Amino acid sequence: MRKLLSRFLSPNILRPSVIAGINARYHLSQWPVGCAPRPNLFGNRNEASPGGPSSDNKSRFKRARGSGNDYHLPVLLEEVTHYLAPQRDKLYLDATLGGGGHSEQLLRIGARVIGLDQDPAALSFARARLTDYRDSFGAIQGNFREFGDILETIGISGLDGVLLDLGISSRQVDDADRGFSFTKPGPLDMRMDPDAEVTAAELVNTCEEEELARVFYQYGEERASRKIARGIVERRLVKPFQCTTDLAEFVESMMPRRGKIHPATRVFQALRIAVNNELRALEEALTEVPRWLRPGGRLVVISFHSLEDRIVKSYLKRCSKAQLDRPEWPAPKANPEHYFKLVMQKGLTPSPDEIKSNPRARSARLRVAERLQTAVPKS
Ligand SMILES: C[S@@+](CC[C@H](N)C(=O)[O-])C[C@H]1O[C@@H](n2cnc3c(N)ncnc32)[C@H](O)[C@@H]1O
Repeated sequence: MRKLLSRFLSPNILRPSVIAGINARYHLSQWPVGCAPRPNLFGNRNEASPGGPSSDNKSRFKRARGSGNDYHLPVLLEEVTHYLAPQRDKLYLDATLGGGGHSEQLLRIGARVIGLDQDPAALSFARARLTDYRDSFGAIQGNFREFGDILETIGISGLDGVLLDLGISSRQVDDADRGFSFTKPGPLDMRMDPDAEVTAAELVNTCEEEELARVFYQYGEERASRKIARGIVERRLVKPFQCTTDLAEFVESMMPRRGKIHPATRVFQALRIAVNNELRALEEALTEVPRWLRPGGRLVVISFHSLEDRIVKSYLKRCSKAQLDRPEWPAPKANPEHYFKLVMQKGLTPSPDEIKSNPRARSARLRVAERLQTAVPKS
């Protein structure tokens, strides 16, 4: 059982005393279950800066913060904090922990955070960075599509806010060994979870031509999807693709560069989405949110391309309508999925200043919704 738990829980919250006697339910260390605040939660903190690290730890904190931004510069940080409106002792799920930049901001305010990521490298980094908050922060490895099961497993009953900052971190892109970048030679991998079964190389070298074309078209919105798929299938008979730059150069040889965007951009996006089943994971996670978010709690989602944003937008639109109507119905009906109130109608994008200082933020779009009282029917 310890082995199973260690996959989910950070070492500092995995103690034998916790595991004992919980009747197959796993709790986070001495964390309060649900939302009851822990009386001495901030006992070791510097009272002058509530929720912040103790003064003894300040220099370590500064160092960690610096290296955190090297790992990944959190996008729309102020906006996320504003709209998530974290409160002291309330419990938030950062379902895409990454380098822990957003989580750190919530923790500094005094909130409690459960950080989830499917990439163990991100978890190790964020745990080290957020070590000063060990009493109010727990890091768990897992896919956010299963966040409900994970929370249930660790004995959490509800959340005061949920953050999804989708996609991959700068560190994942920059690490050539992960295979996300077409500008650096590396294995054609692209798995966020290194234990996942299928790599990009396996897709490229084994999928049927039609399936490849579908992936490039649906997930990359690549208009030349068929031509590229046909070319790949012919070329792999001679020499299978194993390296990122090999594939990128091959795509470029078929689709000469026009403008600033590399011709392999869409193919790489499509493969990454397919390898990590990103769109399905997003849909499943969104569907689970109403069950966990307490009334008044907010869901904040940052997406980085139109496919993700479309899913978020249409889900929130569907669940924020009080009534449903169809021409063939005699009268409108109450919407059984009326779970949210939209906090903003349109998505929010980063300011020109943010894009200037962090060009990777340029395609970000933030959407926010607030949970209503409506009950979720038991499934
Ligand atoms: C954009 S980064 C998050 C950065 C983070 N907000 C920060 O401030 O450092 C996205 C992270 O989400 C993780 N991720 C993406 N899809 C996931 C999924 N389905 N389940 C769990 N983690 C996921 C990635 O591994 C990556 O570390």
